[in-house]
Amino acid sequence: MKVIVTGSAGFIGSHTVRRLVGEGHYVVGIDDFNNFYDPKIKKKNVAEFLKNKNFKLEKCDIRDMEKISKIFKKYKPTHVVHLAARAGVRPSIEDPVLYYDVNVGGTLNILAAAQNIKVKNFVFASSSSVYGGCENIPFEESEWPLMPISPYAATKLAGENLCYFYHKQFGMNVTCLRFFTVYGPSGRPDMAPYLFTDTISKGKPIKKFGDGTTKRDYTYVEDIVEGIVSSVKKPMGYEIINLGNNNPITLNEFISIIEHALGKRAKIEKMPEQKGDVSITYADINKAKKLLGFKPKVKMEQGMEIFIKWYLSKNKT
Ligand SMILES: NC(=O)c1ccc[n+]([C@@H]2O[C@H](COP(=O)([O-])OP(=O)(O)OC[C@H]3O[C@@H](n4cnc5c(N)ncnc54)[C@H](O)[C@@H]3O)[C@@H](O)[C@H]2O)c1
Repeated sequence: MKVIVTGSAGFIGSHTVRRLVGEGHYVVGIDDFNNFYDPKIKKKNVAEFLKNKNFKLEKCDIRDMEKISKIFKKYKPTHVVHLAARAGVRPSIEDPVLYYDVNVGGTLNILAAAQNIKVKNFVFASSSSVYGGCENIPFEESEWPLMPISPYAATKLAGENLCYFYHKQFGMNVTCLRFFTVYGPSGRPDMAPYLFTDTISKGKPIKKFGDGTTKRDYTYVEDIVEGIVSSVKKPMGYEIINLGNNNPITLNEFISIIEHALGKRAKIEKMPEQKGDVSITYADINKAKKLLGFKPKVKMEQGMEIFIKWYLSKNKT
């Protein structure tokens, strides 16, 4: 395959590139290295691929249609994994216009460019957040109507709808993958696994929002990559598929796992519940099992141990 991976310098993007290049595919990464978090981290994420003759990096903002179109015409990818986005629920409430521009406008540009050169398959990174405050658990892909409760979640649902348009109108094969809270080495510094590990290890108090009973279906990044790579290899018309762990844990349990792995007690600062946060995410993964043979392998305790080892080795003085 010749695969364009957007967001290739990000957390999930860099793990995806590693797997694809490792399997001998030709990969073109697109990323704008914006400062949502420190761009130096993103540069480090891609550094190891730059020497590989099967990897090319294009620094480009997906909102720039002209440049995106040129890149697609230059490389003529057979497959696309579209991961570039402004991620994060809470910051989207502060700047909904930016989230809309990148996640909806940018996604439309990538879809249009992919359609122009008639790619064989397109994989779109959607999110569990589209389920909003859904009370039917575990969340099934057939859930309807979906009522997102943050601008971020609304942009992801809009992205799925645009994908459907390209499938319906042009017959493009598109799979929308709804990721459930992804964690692991190179994890995003704005997300709880990193933030809590960093804060607890420095002996500072962590901000605990709500009473600690909210639940998240944390999914290890290599399991997610397995799902992405299986999807990209299997054009299926149009599908929406959950990629989660199918085993949600409470915030209190999550904090205990980190304390145990770090061998350090957390100092807790209690905070009220946050706007845009949902009380539970819980993936039904039967469809992923059936269509992709998806089976998450890494348990939370094990995954956090690997993550914390990575964190400690990175922060060695
Ligand atoms: N990490 C999770 O738990 C999670 C959960 C659900 C969905 N997702 C989705 O998965 C995808 C990857 O997430 P991640 O956690 O790796 O985030 P990330 O922020 O680490 O990666 C996103 C990458 O996209 C790039 N990017 C952002 N805007 C861009 C633009 N305008 N032009 C070009 N590049 C741009 C960023 O620089 C970054 O490198 C995103 O679409 C995100 O919404 C992530």
